[in-house]
Amino acid sequence: MLELVANKPRRVGFGVMQVPAIWFTAVAAVLALSACGAPSTTASTASSPSSAASGSPATASTDACPTQLTPAQTEGPYFKPGSPPRTSLIESGMTGTRLLLSGRVLTLACAPVAGVTLDFWQADAGGTYDNSGYRLRGHQSTDAAGRYSLETIVPGEYPGRTEHIHVKLRAPGKAVLTTQLYFPDVASNQQDSIFDPHLLVTMQSTATGKAATFDFVTSG
Ligand SMILES: [Fe+2]
Repeated sequence: MLELVANKPRRVGFGVMQVPAIWFTAVAAVLALSACGAPSTTASTASSPSSAASGSPATASTDACPTQLTPAQTEGPYFKPGSPPRTSLIESGMTGTRLLLSGRVLTLACAPVAGVTLDFWQADAGGTYDNSGYRLRGHQSTDAAGRYSLETIVPGEYPGRTEHIHVKLRAPGKAVLTTQLYFPDVASNQQDSIFDPHLLVTMQSTATGKAATFDFVTSG
């Protein structure tokens, strides 16, 4: 069964440690990152599975190996099979804050997982899903470095739900993992009964909107 984990950034308390401990911690951090391979910042400069990512804002780094499994979440009532293969969900006339969501699919040992299909679906800026067509729905596969990149908009809230993006991950030979991603600093997160902070993306503002990163990690 495919099991995914959230990538939890690691913080180093430099301000409270003695000098030898600082040196040791810094060396350990470098070694850990080396073992993980390149951090996600590479994804913004190296070839992307998405040609649509060209010219997009740089993404934030998810620079640590994961330490825990990503929780699965409910599919909800609005999933539709058969979404088109595409890495940009932006369409002419679409309103909302532009969002570049990117990251990797990794194993617990930080090895990239290629060929994982990520099927995204979300509400529009007004909190409405397209249930008759495929607006704001699309799927793509991770590249050889386990990377994905999606151009979309920040989804709107709807009754009972904070901002979120749904995703199904299908890895070759593995069970499907269905989950949702959330956004930091959204007041409604605390009123959403299924909100899970382990599924928060890392977010930053860009010249054109927002850039978010999230690494999914399989158990192997
Ligand atoms: Fe939803």
